[in-house]
This record gives sequence, C-alpha cells and structure tokens, in this order.
Amino acid sequence: MPRLLYGGDYNPEQWPEEVLAQDVELMRRARVNLATVGVFAWSRLEPAPGEYEFGWLDDVLDRLAGNGISVALATPTAQPPPWFGLAHPEALPVTAEGVRLSHGSRDTYCGSAPAYRAAALRIATALAGRYRGHPALAMWHVHNEYSSTCHCDLAAEAFRGWLRARYGGLDALNDAWTTAFWSQGYGDWAQIQPPRATRYLPNPAQVLDFRRFTSDELLAAYTAQRDVLRAATPGVPVTTNFVLGGWVPVDHARWAREVDLVAIDHYPGDPGAGAEQEAAFAADLARGWARHSAGGPGWLLMETAPNLIYTADRMHTKEPGRMARQSLAAIARGSQGALFFQWRAPRGGAELFHSALVPHAGPDSRVFREAVALGGQLDRIAECAAGAVRARVAVAYDEPSAWALQAPGLPSSRLDHLGEARHAHGALWRRGVVADVIGTLGGLDAYAMIVLPGHYLMSDDQAGALRSWVAAGGRLVATFLSGVADECGRVRTGGYPGALRDLLGVRVEEFHPLAPDDRVALHTDAGGGPRCPAVDGEPRRSVMGGELWSETVHLAGAEAVARYAGGVLDGRPAITRHAVGDGVAWYVSTRLDADGYARLLGAVAASAGAGPECGDLPCGVEAVRRHDGARSWLFLLNHTGAAHDVPAAGVDLLSGAAVAGTLRLTAGGAAVVQELPTAAPGFSR
Ligand code: GLA
Repeated sequence: MPRLLYGGDYNPEQWPEEVLAQDVELMRRARVNLATVGVFAWSRLEPAPGEYEFGWLDDVLDRLAGNGISVALATPTAQPPPWFGLAHPEALPVTAEGVRLSHGSRDTYCGSAPAYRAAALRIATALAGRYRGHPALAMWHVHNEYSSTCHCDLAAEAFRGWLRARYGGLDALNDAWTTAFWSQGYGDWAQIQPPRATRYLPNPAQVLDFRRFTSDELLAAYTAQRDVLRAATPGVPVTTNFVLGGWVPVDHARWAREVDLVAIDHYPGDPGAGAEQEAAFAADLARGWARHSAGGPGWLLMETAPNLIYTADRMHTKEPGRMARQSLAAIARGSQGALFFQWRAPRGGAELFHSALVPHAGPDSRVFREAVALGGQLDRIAECAAGAVRARVAVAYDEPSAWALQAPGLPSSRLDHLGEARHAHGALWRRGVVADVIGTLGGLDAYAMIVLPGHYLMSDDQAGALRSWVAAGGRLVATFLSGVADECGRVRTGGYPGALRDLLGVRVEEFHPLAPDDRVALHTDAGGGPRCPAVDGEPRRSVMGGELWSETVHLAGAEAVARYAGGVLDGRPAITRHAVGDGVAWYVSTRLDADGYARLLGAVAASAGAGPECGDLPCGVEAVRRHDGARSWLFLLNHTGAAHDVPAAGVDLLSGAAVAGTLRLTAGGAAVVQELPTAAPGFSR
C-alpha cells in the first residue's frame, strides 16, 4: 500500500526528556510517519573537534522507530559550531564588500574552504557509520537549503579553476565577458577575482558566471556528502531541500539530477488567495525539476509553515482549514506527502514565533487538532501516492536568465524572470490548465504547448530544439526579452529577439520600457482576420492592456493579431502569430494584464488540445488529477468563500461519499475523488 509522508522538522535537541516522551505520543495521535531530525544539531553532535555525542540521537531514533515513525536524518552542515570558525577563520564567508562574517546565526561557511568541506564530510561519515541499518532511517536530508555565497580568496581560487574548465583559455573568457568594455582585459588567470565591491556597475557576465560557479561549488559540497551516504546506505534515498527565490543561489535544474527525490521548502508571501497560486507554481516547478531526478515524477513538500504566512511586516495566521487544504493542493500536484517546519514551536532562538504543529499553546489548540485531522485525511487518500500528474503544457523558468535580469544597467529595473514565469503560470492557473514549470528546455516532446516568459538567455542548441519542436506541431508563446542574449549574456545583434527571430517571424527594433504607472492598450488587427479567440473582437477595439514593457515590432513572416493603440507605437504589432511547419509560434511584446493573459494562454492551450482539467471552474477552485494507469484521482480544492458545484464522478475519499456527476464543494472545502475508470473527463494525451 503506497503511503503519503506526514510530519516535519523535529528538534529534540532543544527539549528535555519529558517533552520527548510527549512528542512521540502526540506524533502517534496525529499519525505522523516521518520526522526530519538533526538539521541544525552539529554543536550537539560534535561539541568539540572530533568528539562526538551520539547518545541523545540514538535515543531519539530508537524511540521514533519503536513507535513506527521513520526519520529523514539530516547532516547538520548548514551551520558549523562556534569552535569551527574560531579554529578555521579562513572558512568563514566573506561578503562582496570584504566583510568576514562570524558565527551567531546560520549558513556561515565558505563552500570552497577545504577545512569546511573536510569537517562536513567527517560529520556526515560519522552519522552514516553510526546509523546505517537503523530501523528508523528512511531518507538522508543533506545540509539545509545550501545558501552561502563567499567572495574570499579561497573562493577566488576555486572560481578561477571553474573558469579554466569552462573557457579553456583567457581569450575565450575575455570574449565571453566582453572585457574590452571598460578596460577589463585579463592577461593572467591570477588577475580574475569574484565580483567584489566596485566603483560603478560590475561586469554582468562576470557576475553571472560567479553565480553559476557558486551553484556548482555548493553542488560539489552536496554530492561529496551524498556519495558518502550512498556508499554507506545504498537503499536509502538522499536529498537536500530546494527553495525558490533569492535566498538560495543555486540552479536547481542542475541540482535535480543529483538528488534521489526532489524536495522543496515553500513559504508563500501573500496572505490572500495569491498564496494558493504561489504554492501551485512552486509545486509545478518541483514537478518540473523532478523530471530530471531519479525519484521523479513525484517530489516532496519538505517544509512549509503549518499556521502562518510571512508577509512583509507581520506573520499572518492561517484561517481554519487552510493548512489541510494547502497540503492537499501540494499532494494534488505530485507531492509525496506534507511535511512542515516544524513539529514543536521552540521557546527561544531566532525563529521563536515561527508556527508549528504543536504550538506554544500545546496540544490543546486549534492547530494541533487540525494536525490530527490532517493525519487522518492523508491516511484516507494514501492510494493516490501511486498516481502522477500529467501536464501537456509547460512554462519555462531558467534560473540563469533570472540572475542575468537582476543585473543593474538593463532597460528597466523591474525585469523579473521569476515574476514573469509566475505571471504566465498564474494565467494558466486561472484557466484551470495544469502546467509543469520546467527548468531546462529538454524533453520538449512531452508538451503540446510551451510558454517562454522572458527567457532572456538562449543558446543556439536551445533555440534549435524549440524550432524543431514547433515545426513538429508545438504551440510556443514567447514573451518580450526571450532569446535576446546568448548564454554569456551578450546581445545577439541584428534585431531582437536574437535566437528566436526566425522562429517567431518578427524583428524587434527598439524597446520602450514603461514607467510604473504607464499602461498600453492593445486592439485587434484591422487588416488580417483575428487568429485567436482571446483577441477576437471588432477591429480596432481595445481587447487587452499591457504594462512594464513595449517595443517596436516588425513583422518578418508572422501576422499581427493585436496592435498597440495610442502612443508612439500606435498601430504597430503587439502580439503576433507565426505558423511554422505543423506548429505555431506566438510572440507577446508587452506584459499582458492578468485577464488578457489568461484569455490568450487559455485559447492557445485549447488550440493545442490541452484544455482545463475539469471544465470551466470559477477562479479560485482548483482541479488537478493524479493518474496511475487506468486509475485516477481528481483533487478539488475550493479556495473561495462560496460553495461551488463541480463535475465529478466516483468516490470522495475524504468524506467516503459517492459522487454521481456533480460534487458540491463547500466554501474552503476539498475533495479527493477516486474516479470511475470511465469518468476521467477533460484530459487527452
Ligand atoms: C527554512 C529553513 C528552516 C526555517 C524555515 C522557517 O525553510 O529550512 O530552517 O528557517 O525556513 O523560516
């Protein structure tokens, strides 16, 4: 019987004996089956160099195993103990401004420092030796959110080695970095530094390569530990937790190939309905990464907050029922369970008010009662663990493109590839179309439609793969700035969007970035007939709005389906369509408003035979399926404050009720319908 994982980070090192006894009893009550142990426990495990104290951890693992609870055992290397930095000051990280950081917080290490690497491997090896064969050990959780960037001399030396391997010679590097600009030509490898504090704008290609280097350097630190753990415990999956956004400087798409199971931490920042959309994006991105990992297509929600959403200025308390609904939403999109940060709220430390399944109030609390209820729900839907999500649409999100667009000196300071990817995914989400978010432009044949939302960097190989895929019948929607630069961030001349010009059938002559309050109006083409229901309407009637960006687009094979109305671009193409072989390539030259974007992407998806999962549902009602051969499970999640009727047939595993045609979803309610084999509407492959 497949099972869903349930539990989260557990920090017994922070508590006395009597609390531990209660913890196990409460975990059993909540049906917790996986506890992540030891994440920041290095100073308790190795209080002095080479002196290990494993007794307390033996006791914790024995107790958990004795109660049927498995352990994701962490290597504690995300924060070395104070003795380490004092003994090896050169292994503490240095900022771009030259400040060496000190212990007292977390993630304080230089990933290139031999002393750090050696100490991390020693403690990982010791843990592997001690706990191989322990009945509780179900997974290795290496480190925690690899997130240290260091600009010290050790990092500089390693950076040079990485550059030599990438470019072979200095001529190639000087060319790739355009060092003739501002007299930066390098005559010796020793002259190259990590990007450090500079007088004015740094070299963007140097910054981009340093980010790639940092990702690879941390990946090497991870794989070194992974290999030790794999050798000691060949059957136990090894992973580390990924997290999206600026916190972690790594290219997860490359890392995904190195983990046995993609695991993500997710903390949305919107207290409103935007949180559900953010969570869907993160889940679909995790699924996209998991395509490249041995453990795919499933992935695991390794951490999320049980009862709070961090906003800019406060912690928003989740409404009753939201924790369970969000957990089911992650499982709907392929998570193999719901794990939280954290099990028990701490009494002190920097995150003393972060929420937990056992809050400060103790088990006599709404949150713990909801945790118990969730454990029961996950048991009832356990069979769906066998199913996988099948998406026919993909949104491409390329971390190096996101980094490149963070550079200063670009035409707009508000460019944000991640934001554009979320915007595209949100448009599909509102239309009920399930999409993978893919980190690499590989394996395209799985998809009928792909969106490139500001995919700024593009290699010749990537452009070639897209061209073949469209010619074979794919539907591509590329938005502004996609394909403008090569992998080094150099602009491809002769007209934007460089690598994609021929495929899209357009030539962009110049950019017109918009001020924050500026909007552009788009209308249908007065000349050629409209080609897309989303922009259909009376000729010259305004059909959509755009913001952030606009540009002078010339048709070079494509047709205009919408044009700019008013301003300097009045009457010029804004959205174009280019038939190529059996497929179609669309270009969108502005940031469409949410509604217009949803209509456009919804229409293109429909033309690609990739419609919504469950017909036309109201915005805020999510429907996602997991499939396993002939079986399927339809997850229905109502994030709105009103009840809605949804077409479904089968048995709702949460309530046990039979569903014959229509299911009434209460406000904030959820259902997981085990479908009748004949009643799986809305999906074609
Ligand atoms: C991250 C970390 C945890 C904790 C949580 C909550 O995901 O992995 O250690 O700090 O955030 O902030």
